[in-house]
Amino acid sequence: MGMHVGLLTSGGDCPGLNAALRAVGRAAQDKFGMRLTGFRNGFRGLVQDQTVELDSKQLSGILTLGGTILGTSRDKPHRMPMGGRILDMTPAIVETFRRHKLDALVCLGGGGTQKNALRLQRAGLNVVTLPKTIDNDIACTDRSFGFDTAVGIATEAIDRLHSTATSHNRIIVIEVMGHRAGWLALEAGVAGGADVILIPEIPYDVAAVAKAIQSRTRQGKLFSIIVVAEGALSKDDATKVEDLVRERDSAKTKEAQAKASARLKRFHDKHVDNAIGLTRQLEELVGQESRLTILGHLQRGGTPSAADRVLATRLGTACAECVAAGRFGVMLALQRGDIVPVPLEEVAGHKNLVPPDHPLVRAAEIVGTCFGVAP
Ligand code: F6P
Repeated sequence: MGMHVGLLTSGGDCPGLNAALRAVGRAAQDKFGMRLTGFRNGFRGLVQDQTVELDSKQLSGILTLGGTILGTSRDKPHRMPMGGRILDMTPAIVETFRRHKLDALVCLGGGGTQKNALRLQRAGLNVVTLPKTIDNDIACTDRSFGFDTAVGIATEAIDRLHSTATSHNRIIVIEVMGHRAGWLALEAGVAGGADVILIPEIPYDVAAVAKAIQSRTRQGKLFSIIVVAEGALSKDDATKVEDLVRERDSAKTKEAQAKASARLKRFHDKHVDNAIGLTRQLEELVGQESRLTILGHLQRGGTPSAADRVLATRLGTACAECVAAGRFGVMLALQRGDIVPVPLEEVAGHKNLVPPDHPLVRAAEIVGTCFGVAP
């Protein structure tokens, strides 16, 4: 009898999830004769036993579809809101896995999902994961699917904002997603010819941004395009975050650690308005009309790009091969053009951030892009 494999998608959705489900499913069924069961809404589907039979009909016609046919959630197995309480639902998940006589669980998700998958692997389940996120911040893989599509969407938005910025001689600030990583802002910013790109990995000085805009004005360029990552930090804010992280990590008691974590969370919650403040500051400092566009969830919606379909198909088929070979506790990753399995221990809890001296940062500087620091 073929293996029985469970599949779920977890964390924020992104283009390419259905392409990856189709690839895992087709390879698993057609090449290895496996049976598939999908679980709805991330790890919650395993707790509440919400299943979808993934037969060849279900997997047909979904390659180009955005979102995820399984639904998703940000639920964590070990801290799940259940009837007004936060409970460790790992035992219930293990029970569901055993009751369905699953041989493996395939989890498609971002950084949080990799951590949760490792927890389940340690609880005795056979887990294999795939890297999805528009943020491209998952450790050990050169790319996650979803990223290329988001770069395309953000680039098109920047192109469109360019013409209106030029017509009105305005500063236009465009906030893009990316969580605490600057990949999306960097790639879309370079592709869209942004004049300023602000990313979390390079704390900025608003005065340096204003100077860059004023220098453009002196050259007769009367508009400016500023691409800001949602996680970008001013130098002052970056120092605050460093202090809060140090306080949390050096806390002697659990209580002190919880307090420091709460302070850090409050900081990040407030920081969602950063681009609004930045736009106002620039308007005042430069004395030029400024507008803000927050691209938000537009960047996650709709059909995946060709590159994301290709990556999802490569990762998905390799995933089924991995399961068939009995290789568990790994994430399939793209490394220098090859798809390779990487132990979850090496992925979970780590982040792929933009090295401040990354060649693309240097290339952008050479073509005149300002990163919010004095030259
Ligand atoms: O991780 C993907 C992502 O889109 C981030 O870029 C963003 O910060 C976050 O998810 C938004 O999450 P939600 O959809 O839960 O608001």
